[in-house]
This record gives sequence, structure tokens and C-alpha cells, in this order.
Amino acid sequence: MVINKANSIGSMTIVRPFVLCKISFILEEGFYLRLARYLAMTGAASRRHAEELIVQGRVKVNGEVIVKPAFDIDPEQDLVCLDGRMPAIEDKITLLLYKPTGYISSVWDPQGRPTVMELVKEIKQRIYPVGRLDFDTEGLLLMTNDGDFANLMIHPRYEMPKIYVAKVKGLVKSEEVSKLKKGVVLDDGITAPAEVKILQQNSRDTLMQIEIHEGRKRQVRRMCDAIGHPVIYLKRVAFSGLDLEGLQPGEYRYLKDEEVKKLLEMAKANKA
Ligand code: URA
Repeated sequence: MVINKANSIGSMTIVRPFVLCKISFILEEGFYLRLARYLAMTGAASRRHAEELIVQGRVKVNGEVIVKPAFDIDPEQDLVCLDGRMPAIEDKITLLLYKPTGYISSVWDPQGRPTVMELVKEIKQRIYPVGRLDFDTEGLLLMTNDGDFANLMIHPRYEMPKIYVAKVKGLVKSEEVSKLKKGVVLDDGITAPAEVKILQQNSRDTLMQIEIHEGRKRQVRRMCDAIGHPVIYLKRVAFSGLDLEGLQPGEYRYLKDEEVKKLLEMAKANKA
């Protein structure tokens, strides 16, 4: 194992077989990591699944089976094997994808429909979508291999704002806009206050911008159904300050470190 000591500590890089990884997280943990957390960081399993794998005796540290998920390892020195293979910590990456309609936002679809994974085939890291956009919804979808980041972006406690443009049937009246703004009753409870602007309307349909801070299943569609104006077309145009500028449907770009940092700061500041 080679440690590049020429760099400052915050950006010191460990050279591992097949992987370069930042050491800052290790330093924060005092050079030791819980075995389950280490496995989760490699992307081999979620934290909970890693704990199960360890208890099942499928994980060895330096050739010895360890069944305690809280066992401390030194990622620089210890060799961790899962089912005989050595998972390695991957660089964390986050992409911003312009999801077209006609794709499922999950890694696999039991019905065999196209998934967003087909749009990011050349990415080597095991990324997955951060939250969901419906098959029929287009727009901004983050994808990452960083579970901690994904949890912060999705969890309702962090109230990350999402902006949608929705074309709905009929002419939406101002009383109906007020209902959306205050919160409408859905079968899983009342929605939190939303920001709503009418962009365009005629007797046949209305184009609205809707900003919500929750992320329930088919939430915008159900909110619009609740006021009697079903959605005809739906697009997520922004997520917590990020937008789709420069991207066509099906294209993606990497988020910059500063953008990820800003999102994390926003989530922490929003913590309800
Ligand atoms: N709300 C919806 O109804 N659908 C989406 O895809 C996203 C938000």
C-alpha cells in the first residue's frame, strides 16, 4: 500500500489495487472504520445488508471470519473479503441526468422496461438513482454511488426543494392554486405547503410551476388529481438549485465537488 504523503492531509490519496480513494473520511474516523460501514462504502451492500452478511459469516478480515458488524478495521492495513472477493472503496461520484420519458428510475425493472441505467452504461462505478421520477416524467435526476449523500437528498427531514413544470387538464382557478399552496389531502396524508405559479393557461389546459419539499410517490400527479386537474405532462426542472442547463434528454454531466458540497450544506441547514 502506498500513501502519497506529498499531498496535504485533507486530500491525501491512498493507492489501492484498482482504486484511488480520498483518505479524509478515514482521518475523521481516526483511521478505523466499522466493518459494516467499510463494506457499505465499497458499494458491496447497503449498511444494513452488510451487517447481515457479516453476521452470516461471509466476511473475513485478514483471513479470519468476523461476525461482529461493529468490528473495527484499519482500511490501510486490513484485508477484507466478502465471499472470497476483495471489494474496494470506489471514488464517490454523482451525476445529473436529464431523464427522458419512457425510462424507469431504478437499477432494474421486473417488467423489463428500459431503466435509467441504460443511459449511463459507460459509468464504471455502481451508481443508482437518487429518488424517483415516474416512467412518464422527464427531467432532472441525480445518480450516485454515495449512499450517505443519497440519503440526505431523499429523506423528507432535509426538505430538499424540487421544482416541476406540470401541464394539467383544464383551467386551474386561483382557489385551486391556493389549495395546492396550503396542502391537499392525499391518501398518505396532507401535503406540506407548496409554491405554485401559473405560467400559461387557456380553457383546455394550464401550465404551472410547482415547488415541493417532499418526495412522495407520484406526489405532483396526485396533488393535481386532488384539485381535479390531472397531469398531461410533467417535468422536473430543478433540484435544490441545480437545473438542466446545457443538457438534452438522455444526457448527463458530473456534479462538481462544490455542487455536492453545497447540496450537503443545504440539507444540513434544512434539517427539520
Ligand atoms: N411527482 C410525480 O407525480 N411524479 C414524478 O415523477 C415526480 C414527482
